[in-house]
Parts: sequence; C-alpha cells; structure tokens
Amino acid sequence: MSSGKLWGGRFQESTSALVERFSESVSFDARLYRQDIRGSIAHARMLGRVGVLKAADVTAIVDGLTAIEADIDAGRFEWKPELEDVHMNIEARLTERIGDAGKRLHTGRSRNDQVATDIRLYVRDVIDELLPLMDRLAGHLLDLAEREADTLMPGFTHLQIAQPVTFGHHMLAWREQLLRDRSRLADGRARMNQLPLGAAALAGTVYPIDREWVAAELGFDGVTENSLDTVSDRDFAIEFCATAALCLVHLSRWSEELILWSTPMFGFVDLPDRFCTGSSIMPQKKNPDVPELVRGKTGRVVGNLNALLVLMKGQPLAYNRDNQEDKEPLFDSIDTLSLCLQVYAEMVPHIRVNTARCREAAARGFSTATDLADYLVKKGLPFRDAHHVVGSAVAHATAAGCDLAELELTTLQGFSPLIADDVFAVITLEGSVNARNHIGGTAPAQVRAAIARARKGPSRPA
Ligand code: ARG
Repeated sequence: MSSGKLWGGRFQESTSALVERFSESVSFDARLYRQDIRGSIAHARMLGRVGVLKAADVTAIVDGLTAIEADIDAGRFEWKPELEDVHMNIEARLTERIGDAGKRLHTGRSRNDQVATDIRLYVRDVIDELLPLMDRLAGHLLDLAEREADTLMPGFTHLQIAQPVTFGHHMLAWREQLLRDRSRLADGRARMNQLPLGAAALAGTVYPIDREWVAAELGFDGVTENSLDTVSDRDFAIEFCATAALCLVHLSRWSEELILWSTPMFGFVDLPDRFCTGSSIMPQKKNPDVPELVRGKTGRVVGNLNALLVLMKGQPLAYNRDNQEDKEPLFDSIDTLSLCLQVYAEMVPHIRVNTARCREAAARGFSTATDLADYLVKKGLPFRDAHHVVGSAVAHATAAGCDLAELELTTLQGFSPLIADDVFAVITLEGSVNARNHIGGTAPAQVRAAIARARKGPSRPA
C-alpha cells in the first residue's frame, strides 16, 4: 500500500490526518502561486532548450500551467491540504490536466530550490510595489513640509520644550527616516536577486541545466554560488523583516507624535475625521485610532523578525523543514508594512496644522533661552556664566507668567549689562530659527533649500 502522495513510493502507510494538518503549508503558501508558476515555466523551457524535455512536453507544461494560473486567478482551483503545499498542488493539477508531461516538470529540481525561488520572486515583487508607495509617502511629507516651512513649533528633547523648530523641518526629519528604509529595501532587493534554481535538493543536479538562462528569464541578476547555502538561506527574508520592523518603528514614532499632537493639550494638528473614530460612550471623543493601530501593529512586525531569527538559529545546512515556518511571519510583515504605508500615504496630505497653537507652545516654553545664552557669549560672557544668567531670567519670567521676549529691556538688563535692544531680534522665535541657517538646520530658508534639493531628483543612493 502506498500513501497516495507524490512522494509516496517508499511509504507503507498513509500520513496521519493529524500530521497532514500539522505539516500542510498550502493554507498560507498558496499565495506564492504566481511566482511558483513563473518559476516552473522558466524551468520547463530551460529543460526543453538543453534537450532534457521534448518540445511537445514543454508546450504542454507551459499551456497547462498558464491555464492553472488563470483558474487560480478566477477562484476555480481547489487547493488540497493533503497535497501539502502550493508546489505539489499545482504539480498534481498539472499532471491531472496533461498527463505524463506534468510528471516530467520536476526533473532536475527539488521543492527546496523551488520554494527558495518562489519566495525570492515574491519578496522581489513586493519590494517593487513598496518602493513607489514609499516614494509617494515621501512626496506627501515633502508637500507638507513645504506648506509648513515657516510654521514655528517647539522642538523637544526629553519631551520637554527645547528650542523652536519649524514644522516643515520636523516633517523632513520623518522623511529622512523613510528614505533610509527605502534604501534598505532597495539594497536588500539587489542582494537577494540571484537565482536559487539549480541547487536542487541541496547538492545540485545531474542534468545539463542552464541556470544563467533561467536567471535571465526570471529577471535575476545572476545565479547563487553554492547549492547548500542556496536551499538553506533565508537571509533575504530576514533582511526584509528587519527593514519592515525598522520602518514600522519609524511609523510608530510618527504615530506617537501625531497622537500627542492631536490631543487638546497640544492641539498642534487635526487629523481628518475619516481617519479617526468616536467613542461609544463619550460623545466628545475623536480618537486617533489609525496612528494608534500603526503603533500597535509595530509589535507584530518586530516579533516577526524575531521569529525568523530564532527559526534559523539552530539549523544545520542544508534545507530543513523548519524553513516552512518562514512564510507566515514574512507574509504578515509584508501585509502589515504595506497597509501601514498605504494608510499613512492617504492620511499625511490631510493632516491639518494649527499654526497658532504650535507657535504659542513654542513661545510659552522659553524655547529661545539658548539663543539668549548664545547672544551673551557673542558679547564676551563665558558660556557657563551666560547659562546661569539666562536661568535667572527664565525663573523671573516664569514667576511673571511671560516669555523671555516679553520682558522689558530694562528688566533683561538687570540680569546682564551686556544685553542691548538688539536682543529682541535674537530671542524671538523667528530670530531663533532663522539663525540656524546651515544645511541640516531648522531655518525656513534651509527647509526650502532641502525641499528644492529633494525635488531636483535622486540626490542619494536608491
Ligand atoms: N513547503 C515547503 C517549505 O515551505 C517546501 C519545501 C519542502 N521540501 C521538503 N524537502 N519537504 O519549505
């Protein structure tokens, strides 16, 4: 008695139903079907070119696989868990359709190099969708930065008001984070774009295969160097998950800021109603659920990276079935990152900034105290002494309930005779930001210059 499996020849009994349920992956790897079929078609054509398959078989395989793809696209395909995975479901169906030619498809390959190829193709396709999405979001941040290039707000360290910055400058900071994530994705894509097929189970194959041809056919830059490494390597998936985790950490930080900024205590921004929800009990509430969910989903994506790292940690070469467990965390990171980026790309253009509130918060927070100290230093006072003088002035203004720039000149001069009426150009919010007028600084002029550089084109590595 045989087990009825494609690999069932040496088995005396059929797989236990529990083990079938335990070991199947088709419930989650079916989503690789397009990549699986693309890889199989290239493999079959190559086998035809090198004379391993007859032309008629190649044609039957290609036509059969193309028809199967159309069936799956149309929801007309019956996935069978007892056939384990996407690869064997498709191959079994092919053989049902075209007979013996279908059974020849797997010549010179193994599911081990097949699945490695499928996932690489899949992640590559995903990256090719994510990069333009990130560009779109980066573009929206640029537009928002331009709109708010002159908007004054407090900059924070320790979440305490530190120095005035421009809202545009803050948006460009977010954009920098995103651009680094973009570059990490592109970088990972370039590294992973090598063809695994040909490694077969682990050692290569006895057939006269033409790996370079398959690589070119599938848009790979070349072929992997070592068969043992090839079937075992999931670095590319880990790199993707690492980049996804970092990108989500960035989005989570933005979310945290938006959540704070949209509370009435800050009141810096207003998120569009359609990105918020209400409370079932408190009628006044408008909750920033979208940024909260992005912040929350970050936990999952960080966890997925950890899952993959631990998955690999104890594995000897070469392929181990453990690797089947790479897919769910990977797919989850893909889906979550993509959704969060989409949501941000939709939301960012509609963030409304309350410039008056932002300005008022900066003015109330002694955010120009450092400017006053620097002013005194320029007049010859040692910095430590200047620091002390300004500290006393701040204490006085706090008691008086006003900002430094609102103190009378004579009052200020009581703290240091070096103070003259040119001080007001320095300790106003505008004076403070305009003074930081160098590349990377917060001056509106620099924000505009940065935007102009960004609009001019790709100034940095992909
Ligand atoms: N479903 C398997 C996976 O995702 C495909 C490879 C199976 N290979 C094997 N030798 N059982 O890893």
